[in-house]
Formats: sequence, structure tokens, C-alpha cells
Amino acid sequence: MSTSTMHIDIRNTSRETLEESSRSAAQTLLERYRRTRARSEELIAGLSDADATAQSMPDASPVKWHLAHTTWFFETFVLQEHVPGYIPFDSRYPYLFNSYYEAKGPRILRGSRGLLTRPTLEEILSYRAYVDAAISKVWESISVCAQDVTILGCHHEQQHQELLLTDILHLFAQNPLFPAVHARTSVELCKTPESLKWLRGRKGQVQIGHDGDGFAFDCEGPRHTAWLTPHDLASRLVTNAEWLAFVIDGGYSKADHWLSDGWAWVRENDINAPLYWLKNSGNEWSRQFSLNGILSLNPDTPVCHVSYYEADAFARWAGYRLPTETEWESAAVDQSSEFRVNFDRFRWDQDRADADRHMDLSDLRWEWTASSFLPYPGFRAPPGAVGEYNGKFMSGQFVLRGGSCATPIGHTRATYRNFFYPHQRWQFTGVRLARDI
Ligand SMILES: [Fe+2]
Repeated sequence: MSTSTMHIDIRNTSRETLEESSRSAAQTLLERYRRTRARSEELIAGLSDADATAQSMPDASPVKWHLAHTTWFFETFVLQEHVPGYIPFDSRYPYLFNSYYEAKGPRILRGSRGLLTRPTLEEILSYRAYVDAAISKVWESISVCAQDVTILGCHHEQQHQELLLTDILHLFAQNPLFPAVHARTSVELCKTPESLKWLRGRKGQVQIGHDGDGFAFDCEGPRHTAWLTPHDLASRLVTNAEWLAFVIDGGYSKADHWLSDGWAWVRENDINAPLYWLKNSGNEWSRQFSLNGILSLNPDTPVCHVSYYEADAFARWAGYRLPTETEWESAAVDQSSEFRVNFDRFRWDQDRADADRHMDLSDLRWEWTASSFLPYPGFRAPPGAVGEYNGKFMSGQFVLRGGSCATPIGHTRATYRNFFYPHQRWQFTGVRLARDI
């Protein structure tokens, strides 16, 4: 686990100043903790206990489970490991809310989370309040190590905030009433997308990976040397109109462009369009289910909810390919690249969020890359249970870069490596093309 670091020049700093700095950093972290926890509860406004309990598929967890699991994380890794005498809220909860940490004991099957009609949503909120109060109470005397785990816990909870949204969207999509998660507060983008430009990527030797400054998940490092062959990256993502052309051209009915596994997935699951696309009475793809309910399919909006298999097939149909994660990251950090300007939209901090509250980020998508989620050279998972966070999932998954319209403000960065299995598409996933030159 990498954690945030403060850089203080000890040679020119008095002991009192150092203590003051570390007190101030701890206070800032506590405020961040409270803001993150409050945001999770803002996201569930308007949801009933029933909404928060049901589970639509094993990959998606109930809202209630997300709220409790993120709390279990702080209770287990901060309070139980670093606060002597802490009394857990309920000794039965770890069996319910441990996700996958073998070192922390047995747990219910992932696909059974939706059977937890008890504890109720109200009881889960009490659990959250209990842990929040305990953190606040001990914060003054908490160790630096516990603060580091708290930082990890905040980023972990932000990941679950996005999952909470993608999972409730998937649940509501199973309901013929197609309920909206959120009242329609923003209009889908109507602007015509820029015409696609090809941006020249860097070539030769480059460095990628987290450099140790600020927080990053363990899988983002070590920073290392990689090699790039000449290539271009598309200046924008593939749109719904472009995807519709793929559909109309028989993209889902001909094996030509598909990986063998992808084609088997298409056939076995009767896949014929992005997840949540809907047809009208004239049998035309014209609408899309979203967090705001059913919207008309906007031709100019980046396509969303496509799997790696679909992204790869589309790219091959179009005569291009998906970018590698090295190509993507080296463009995102290149100060001279127009790509960097686009990526800047992800680089939100709270101050900018407050200033640009009305900026429309609804067109942001996680971008599939052609790169398998593998350890960078020299990667070693940290010791202890938190070492299970990412490293043990480096098998059979592909990396996504960037962030999405559901990614919490300030959560992502240029080195961020999201990862999913190639058939999964209930996340806010889109496609950027690349080409060899
Ligand atoms: Fe988790």
C-alpha cells in the first residue's frame, strides 16, 4: 500500500513546527474521512430499504452491503488493528461484510449478499455512525500507520461509491418500471462531438507508474521503464452514432471481428448492443436506460457500458485497435499533448469541484485498454491482509484508464489502473481507438 506523504525539510524546521504540521495533516485527513463517509450516504438519498437490499447478479452488491462493507474496512483495519480496547459494533458483522480478505476469516458467498434482509438499512446506518464516532473519538491519539490505513479506506470507500451507482443501475434495469436512481438533474450532452483527430503518441523509452508522491494504490507502481512503438491515439471516445453504425453493419452477427472468447460470449448471452440500449416500437435502438431513467439515445454521447470483447471487436471493425495502458498513461502525463488537456478533466480536487460545480462530466467513461492487469516489474504486494487489495486479482482481467461520470471527484489520476474481466460491462466503460503508424 502506498500512502500519502508529507515532505518536510527537517533541517530547517523546529520540532514544534513539525508537530503542528502533523497535527494539521491529521485534521485534514479527518475532514476528508468525514466528507467521504457523508458522500456515500448522500448517494442513497431516495432509496428504500428494499432498493438497498436486492442484488441483481453476483458481480453487483446491494447498496446496503456497500455501506456496511466500507464501514467494516475502517472497523477492521483501523480500529481493531490500531485502537486497543475497541469494542466492535456487532461481532457477527465480519462474516457478512468481509469481501475477499482471506486473512480476515470466512464470509458469506458473494452471490448471497442480496439475501441479507437483516440487518436493515437503518441498522447499517447505525453501524456507520458507531464507527464514525469511534474514529473521531480516538483520532487525536491515532498512530501515523493508522492514518495511512485511513487514507486507503477513504479511497476504498470512493471505489465503492462508484460501484454503488453501477450496481443500483443494474438492479433498476431489471425492473420493467425502469425507475430512475436520481431525478433528472442534468441533460444528456447535446453538443456535437469534435471530429476525431489522431494525436501522435510518444515513442521509444518512457517511464510509467506512480512516482511515490501522493496516494496511489499498490498496483500503480513501481515506476518503471517501458517501450513505445510509433502510434496515434484518438482525440475523443467512440460515440453512440459510431457504435450504431457497427450494429447496423452486423457487428454483433458476424464472427469476423471478434476474439474467439468474445464471439462465444456474444452467442451464449445473445448480445446485440451495449448494455442498457433499448429499442422503440419500430425495432430501432433509440433509448438508453441510465441513472436518470430512460433517455433518448444521444448519437453524440460517448458509447457506454460495453465489454472489453465489444471494445476490441469495434476497434477491429473500424480498422484500428485499443491503446495499451503505457500508450494511454504516457499521453496523459505529456505536458505537450492535447490528450493531456482532455485528461485534465479528471484532475479534480475539491476546490475546483466547488468552483466548477456545474461542469458537465456526464460524457466521461472508463477507457478499455489492450493491456492485461499484470504486476509491474518489481511489484510486491504489501504484507498483511491489505496485501490482498489488488495483487491477487492479477489474472484474466484487463486494465481501464481514466475515470467515469460516476467516479468521485479527486479519486482518479493518470497512473490509476482500474480492472475488470473482459465480459463485464455494467461499469461506465467506453472506447478510445489507437493506431500503429
Ligand atoms: Fe471493498
